[in-house]
Amino acid sequence: MATEGELRAARAVAAVVSARGAGWAATAVERPPMADHAETAGWDQTLVIDGWRNSRGASNLAFNEQVKHLQRCGRQIAHFAFGQSPFPIPELAVAALRQHAGEHAYLPVAGLPELRRAICDFHLRHDHIQLDADYMLVGPGSKELLYLTMSVFNGDLILVAPAWTTYEPQSRLAGKVATVIQTGSETHFKVTSDHLETLFKSRRMLPHRMMVLTNPGNPTGLQYTEQELRDLSETCRRHRVIVLSDEIYARLTFDSTHVSMAKVYPEGTILTSGFSKWLSAGGWRMGYAHYPAALAPLLSAVRSAASNTYSCAPAPQQRALAAALQPKHAHQLDTYIGTCCRLLRAVGDYCARQLHAVGVKGYPSQGAFYFMPDFEVCRGALAARGITTGDQMVGAILQEADVALMASSCFLMSETDLSTRFCFVCLDGAAALAALDAGESLDDAFVERHCAQLVAGVRRLCAWVLANSA
Ligand SMILES: Cc1ncc(COP(=O)(O)O)c(C=O)c1O
Repeated sequence: MATEGELRAARAVAAVVSARGAGWAATAVERPPMADHAETAGWDQTLVIDGWRNSRGASNLAFNEQVKHLQRCGRQIAHFAFGQSPFPIPELAVAALRQHAGEHAYLPVAGLPELRRAICDFHLRHDHIQLDADYMLVGPGSKELLYLTMSVFNGDLILVAPAWTTYEPQSRLAGKVATVIQTGSETHFKVTSDHLETLFKSRRMLPHRMMVLTNPGNPTGLQYTEQELRDLSETCRRHRVIVLSDEIYARLTFDSTHVSMAKVYPEGTILTSGFSKWLSAGGWRMGYAHYPAALAPLLSAVRSAASNTYSCAPAPQQRALAAALQPKHAHQLDTYIGTCCRLLRAVGDYCARQLHAVGVKGYPSQGAFYFMPDFEVCRGALAARGITTGDQMVGAILQEADVALMASSCFLMSETDLSTRFCFVCLDGAAALAALDAGESLDDAFVERHCAQLVAGVRRLCAWVLANSA
């Protein structure tokens, strides 16, 4: 049996490895005691595979250490760097999980057939797309399925920056060197056919190519229109690009106008999603991936990788979700989604407007928990203080305003870009939902009343901007 010290060391190492991908804000990072033993025993970084000798995450880890340290010192940090649902899981899903807590048997690798069918029905209702339960894999979070898909794929991987923190580390872990397309504000940080054409003109690519698309985006909170997706799909068809379409935030688009890439490019889209965001069940670890029939070799390789790694997604959660997704609950779940979206939109708009008023630009969020304010207005004053990178800037904001934001470099953007990811979810979601249910109107006064910690953080941030702009 492991001693307490060994367990502590193992946990610390796991925290270091997961810190960048899992959102560093969620993870306590300590120097692993194991490393000391390793050094004295003569082991070094050559123990670790090439692409995984963790150096790139260091600045984020150091920043996270700072956040944790300040919190331990009693400082009230507004944690705008932490992106998880603030809402409680709907009671009908919790009750179903309670009922199935005794499930102990392994389930099929691909997931319970009735759950896979229920997921297909769910997408038919919301996205008007016809998925096939036989081409669906349910796994312990879509993150795992994204990773396994990248791992078994034999070809070039294309990422779109700003990109979610996890894709690039996953691609390295999968033994790949991803090609990154940089997008900018002129395309609302979305990839276009022009980006792809330029890439294919400038580089010889392997015969198989896969592009990871995040819609709506993390960190941008912006969504693709149907026309934009259609344009992209034509280019993808022409260049035989498979799209790994991460639509985990689809149900949290504020005006319910999400269009799935699988609708416009069914033959070339792998759709991933899950229950972590719209159902607020991140800790349940339940996600899924759907593969088009034409990509059956990939599906069966991922299924095989799944069977040799995690075996199956947790049985109680699968049974509970199969029950929760029954048509008789659809109205209740849709109402829950609608209310969460109304609240997220009000809070996101509030934050964007306050920052805009002091000169911080950025597109207001259209969905998810995020938007990307750009602190360019501070560049001159910060340069005079010797602050020239996003990392340095978020460090200063943390120290001087007690506000934690993630710097652009975490999303594969330039180190000198002063855009950040702002997560507007540090609020008591249960209390806010209860207030809405009680009939309170959803205006700025509501946000100021029910999201006091978030509002205080925004005010400190605005004051910091005013003090640090010309
Ligand atoms: C863009 C994006 N994709 C995927 C995931 C992973 O979700 P899951 O909980 O299904 O693994 C997240 C979670 O933060 C995310 O932000």
